[in-house]
Amino acid sequence: MDISNSTVFITGANRGLGLAFAREAVRRGAKKVYAGMRSTSGFDEAGITPIRIDVTDPSTVAAAADAASDTTILINNAGIAALIDSPLAADFETQSKALFETNYYGLARVTRAFEPALSNQPRSAIINVLSDIVWMPRPYLTPYAASKAAAWSYTNQLRFHLVERGVQVLGLHVGFLDTDLTHGIDVPKTNPADVASQTYDALAAGKSEIMADKGTILLKTTLADEVPGYITPPSGLF
Ligand SMILES: NC(=O)c1ccc[n+]([C@@H]2O[C@H](COP(=O)([O-])OP(=O)(O)OC[C@H]3O[C@@H](n4cnc5c(N)ncnc54)[C@H](OP(=O)(O)O)[C@@H]3O)[C@@H](O)[C@H]2O)c1
Repeated sequence: MDISNSTVFITGANRGLGLAFAREAVRRGAKKVYAGMRSTSGFDEAGITPIRIDVTDPSTVAAAADAASDTTILINNAGIAALIDSPLAADFETQSKALFETNYYGLARVTRAFEPALSNQPRSAIINVLSDIVWMPRPYLTPYAASKAAAWSYTNQLRFHLVERGVQVLGLHVGFLDTDLTHGIDVPKTNPADVASQTYDALAAGKSEIMADKGTILLKTTLADEVPGYITPPSGLF
């Protein structure tokens, strides 16, 4: 599905990857671009309409879906991360609950609210922003990894469920991006604008999944190995 002439709604679009998705949609000639955000105050970008949405708050999710009922492409981008000491850390449960509320329940909540309008369109799509962490052991990101793995699983069930309604479901997997989320993590990072562009190309090509950087592509190739990357990561990736 092409971005040009479509109406795009992106959660968490006031900064980071979400803002890159919004700007690239404008650049590609989208009919309308809704930028979902927790606070709309001070947001002012040509061609982008801010709409208030907190994915953990069902009333704002319902109001946003109502206000943007002409959406043809939903991008579930909003997400949070947290570093913990290990899978055995004392704050494991608190952090896991907070991350699941946004990264898993939030994504599913927004999807359920927008689905009737999307299914009503002759062509529509949902892009879910996932992560290489689904297949990458990084114990300091355990709650984040589990929330993204749950969101990946939801994405796969959703894709199969919606296929007969003509809704294309695309899962985006990518490693570290150069955004606020990775502030203080000293690793090579991919430019979010490149990821947004690649993702829209994959959508236009009718794909169901995209690996948006070399490390994630490599990681996925190990999945059929006797010792896949989620047990022993390929050298150079950790
Ligand atoms: N950065 C990476 O290395 C990386 C790698 C793989 C995947 N991802 C995924 O990419 C997505 C975007 O992340 P990013 O790197 O752009 O992070 P970011 O710069 O920290 O931006 C996160 C965005 O999500 C919004 N958000 C957080 N909680 C929300 C909520 N409850 N309701 C609505 N919006 C909410 C934030 O809004 P506020 O401004 O109000 O906080 C912000 O707009 C996330 O799903 C993340 O997991 C990131």
